[in-house]
Amino acid sequence: MFINKEFRNVSKLQALDVMAKGIAHEFNNIFAIIDGKIQILMRENKGREKLLDELRFIRKFVRNGAEIVHRMNKFANRREDCDHGITMDLGEEIKNAIDLTRSEWDEGAKRKGVVYTINSKSVMDALHIKGNPSELREALINIIHNAIDAMPAGGTVSFSTKEENGRVVLEISDTGTGMDEDTQLRIFDPFFTTRDKGTGLGMSVVFGIVKRHGGKIEVQSQKGKGSTFTISLPAAKEPMYILASAPEQCKAGSEKEGRKNRILIVDDEEAIGNVLDEFLSEEGYKVVFINNGAAALELLKKDEFDLVLCDLGMPDVSGWDILNVIDTMVKKPKVGIITGFLNTSAVFPGRELQSDFVINKPFELEDVLRSVNNTLKD
Ligand SMILES: Nc1ncnc2c1ncn2[C@@H]1O[C@H](COP(=O)(O)OP(=O)(O)O)[C@@H](O)[C@H]1O
Ligand SMILES: [Mg+2]
Repeated sequence: MFINKEFRNVSKLQALDVMAKGIAHEFNNIFAIIDGKIQILMRENKGREKLLDELRFIRKFVRNGAEIVHRMNKFANRREDCDHGITMDLGEEIKNAIDLTRSEWDEGAKRKGVVYTINSKSVMDALHIKGNPSELREALINIIHNAIDAMPAGGTVSFSTKEENGRVVLEISDTGTGMDEDTQLRIFDPFFTTRDKGTGLGMSVVFGIVKRHGGKIEVQSQKGKGSTFTISLPAAKEPMYILASAPEQCKAGSEKEGRKNRILIVDDEEAIGNVLDEFLSEEGYKVVFINNGAAALELLKKDEFDLVLCDLGMPDVSGWDILNVIDTMVKKPKVGIITGFLNTSAVFPGRELQSDFVINKPFELEDVLRSVNNTLKD
């Protein structure tokens, strides 16, 4: 039973991988354009509160769309190994996920007169795994959301962990509605949902994250009798501590007028280039926008730029080709990448990014500005 399900899920994943990446890339561009234009309109209409409210409203839905694409991409972007991950204490991450969802099972529920109990007494200390803590947390949060959804009249979510044959095993049970056999078979399918307002992306994202961490996930359930998810992950031996450096403080205040830096924007998507051009010009930079990689290379031969802001996926001459050429230049401009691929190294295996910063589409114009300012400052 388990082998069949596993096989079905893995081969399906491979096909969906390709599709999800393609769709995500296209939609990222579309959302980036709409979002960029909204942000420009908002800046140009400061003080017109009624209009700004409408724009904020539209933006919220653009962001929702972008979030769905982001999750699709996350599901598709599955690297089997998490070698470059960090060692973390699973118990800590469980605690974090429980804390992060507190408003749903604690305060929010109380207001509705519903009581949830979260039981984590059987979570052991110091069980280490290697990977990406925020991804793992996201997986746990998705499972908690589903458990709460499955217990509209209240109930208990229980966590327990153990170490078994070099693997860390986590069980999460709820006392909710449970699932029939058909739902259990399809639970990890992207877009499979039985809820009116569901997206069906929660458990497919969980599946992708668990796989990426070298793990397995199983579900056991019976209609009316609750559900149990069992996740097994490779145990990591030595904890490794990484000191995160504090993010660089962004200088407040605008020094727009003094800006003389020249920026070359290269993006085959004209509307995105125009949004960036308009915005950075408005911020005082000298901007040239070109929608074609080959023409950009010609321009780089003749002209000097302080920064090249470049898309990656372009026909004929790609962003990578441009990066390679810049790498051979004597007077190298700084390079910023603005891409619709969530994880560039996964899309172009084995290629190291040689850039000063990377920004994912759709982007906050303020983030672009901060990166550009910081890069050109030194
Ligand atoms: N703990 C659970 N109890 C009962 N059903 C669940 C549980 N978790 C997931 N499911 C079922 O799996 C479906 C897919 O879940 P998910 O991928 O998170 O999407 P969504 O929550 O948007 O519906 C749900 O619609 C529900 O039918
Ligand atoms: Mg869900």
